[in-house]
Amino acid sequence: MLVPFHKILNDAYAGHYAVGAFNCLSVEHVIGAIQAAEELRSPIILQLAEVQFPCAPIEMMAPVYLEAAAKATVPVAVHLDHGQSLETCVKAIKLGFNSVMFDGANLPFDENVSQTAQIVRIARAAGVDVEAELGKVGDTGFGGEGTGEATPDVFTDVEESAAFIEKTGVDALAIAIGNLHGRYVATPKLNIERLKEIAQRNNLPLVLHGGSGTSEEDFKSCIHNGISKINVATALQMAVTDAVRRYVTECPGANYIDMKEVITAATCESVKQHILLFESDGKA
Ligand code: 13P
Repeated sequence: MLVPFHKILNDAYAGHYAVGAFNCLSVEHVIGAIQAAEELRSPIILQLAEVQFPCAPIEMMAPVYLEAAAKATVPVAVHLDHGQSLETCVKAIKLGFNSVMFDGANLPFDENVSQTAQIVRIARAAGVDVEAELGKVGDTGFGGEGTGEATPDVFTDVEESAAFIEKTGVDALAIAIGNLHGRYVATPKLNIERLKEIAQRNNLPLVLHGGSGTSEEDFKSCIHNGISKINVATALQMAVTDAVRRYVTECPGANYIDMKEVITAATCESVKQHILLFESDGKA
C-alpha cells in the first residue's frame, strides 16, 4: 500500500530503526525489492534519482513504482531522490510520487533554505512530503569509486541544521557525516559524534545517503542515533551485475527470460540483507 513518506519515517524514528530507500531502475528491481519487503514484513521506499532518468525515465518508472506500491501488502513510499530543481520536483509530484527530495546542498545556505522552503510550500499543497540535504555528501555518481575519506569541513553543521529545519519545514534531512555516494575503495568511518549532536539538536528523522559499502558497525550506530532512512543504490547494482555475470558464465543455455528472474532474485536478496541490517523487518 502507498503510505505517506512522513508516516513511514516517523514510525522508524520513534522505533529506532531505519527504512531502506532503494534506487530501482527496472521492473525487476522493483519486483525484487517489494518481494523482499513483503517476505520480511518491512516498510520500504522506492526511489529514483534525477541523474538516473536517462537510463530509467521517470515517466515510465512512475507507473511501475505506483502500481507496485498499490499492490504491496507492506507500506511503500514512492520518492524522488536528488531532485535538482523545482521543475523536477513538480514533475515527480504530478506523476504521483508521494515525496520528493530537493538537493540544494551545493547552494549557499540561504539559497538552499529559500529554494527548499518554496518546494515545501508547493509540495504541502499537493499533500507531498519533502526531504532536503545540508552539508556535502561526497559523490562518485552511484556506481563510481571513492576513497572513503571526507574532510570535516563538509560535515553538516549542527546549528545550521536547526536553522535549516526551522526555516524550511522539511519532513526529513539528509546529513553529511563522511558518507559518500558510490563505491568506496576503503570502508568509510562515519562521524557518529556529529550525527548524535545533530540528532540531539533536532527532533526530525535524519537520512543517510551513500549507504553502499558502509560497515555494519556504522549502520548500527546510525540507526540507533537518529538515522531513519538509508539510501542504497550501488550495492543493488553490484549484486545484480555479479549475479548476471555468474549466470551467463555458468549457464550455457542462458536466456533473457531466465536472466530477468536472476535480476529479480539478486535484488530481493540484497534488499533483504539491508532490511535485516536496518532492523525494519517485522515493522510493517
Ligand atoms: P550509494 O550508491 O552509495 O548506495 O548511494 C545511494 C544514494 O545515496 C542515493 O541517493
